[in-house]
Amino acid sequence: WPAFAEDIAAILELKQKHNAVILAHNYQTPEIFHCVADITGDSLALARKAQEVEADIMVMAGVEFMAETSKLLNPSKTVLLPSAQAGCSLAESITAEDVRLMRQRYPGVPVVTYVNTSAAVKAESDICCTSGNARKVIESLGVDEVIMIPDEFLAQNVANETGVKVITWKGHCEVHERFTPQEIREWRKAYPDLVVLAHPECPPEVVAEADFAGSTAGMSDFVASGKASRVLLVTECSMSDNLAALHPEVDLVRPCNLCPHMKRITLSSIRKALEQMEVRVEVDPAIADRARLSIERMLAV
Ligand code: 13P
Ligand code: SF4
Repeated sequence: WPAFAEDIAAILELKQKHNAVILAHNYQTPEIFHCVADITGDSLALARKAQEVEADIMVMAGVEFMAETSKLLNPSKTVLLPSAQAGCSLAESITAEDVRLMRQRYPGVPVVTYVNTSAAVKAESDICCTSGNARKVIESLGVDEVIMIPDEFLAQNVANETGVKVITWKGHCEVHERFTPQEIREWRKAYPDLVVLAHPECPPEVVAEADFAGSTAGMSDFVASGKASRVLLVTECSMSDNLAALHPEVDLVRPCNLCPHMKRITLSSIRKALEQMEVRVEVDPAIADRARLSIERMLAV
């Protein structure tokens, strides 16, 4: 912590000087999440709260698609992403041209797009979803078949929950695809009272082993509810670190898979972003209105 103190003090000063706020995803490390962030949450909460930000500058302690979403929803603000390399394996798995080809192949089938995509892909979509509202979004369409891109596992998990047929894409989260059902069974053997919470980006056979599946906010709420005294979080490991600080009474068992993209964001990169006003996130005006519409349709559900 002493190593962090200087950066934390500098960031707090820079936020005041520039009228800036920091939005941090649940996968950010504790010194970011607990010491400098003004707004925290899952992808859905960050999008909703970004809309309401009144400060001049939003610093996204998260990944590029989250920064783009903030810019789309609150375009008059300056949005800074502390690392230009904070991408996402899901967002990188699909292009706008891929979506246009899918539409040609399956005419008339609505396209539901996970927010973990570029603005260009969102612009080709009918509606977005997050892991927190995927079921609600799909059910709101009242159809029996959707194209659900790019996360194959999220789509399969939602299909299992809703009975809606999904046409999928072969995108995966490089963090959640690594978990296996065997690993969960081993943890249960070691801790018979274990309650297992899994993110729906995990393969369906992993979700089938869990007691609860939900977004990072859903998992946080479960831990906060006091329903379990020993919990296995099948997700990125900084989330367990953040929850451990908030709920010392809960024993958090942590299989540690790190997201290299989220970890590009550090206290020093946030400080540099605020000192140099970089990297500014802009969305091509040619696609911004259509991308925004697909996010706004989701927020209206
Ligand atoms: P949520 O916070 O929406 O559950 O998303 C998880 C994720 O992987 C974000 O990159
Ligand atoms: Fe993308 Fe997975 Fe990292 Fe989230 S955890 S940013 S879905 S690679």
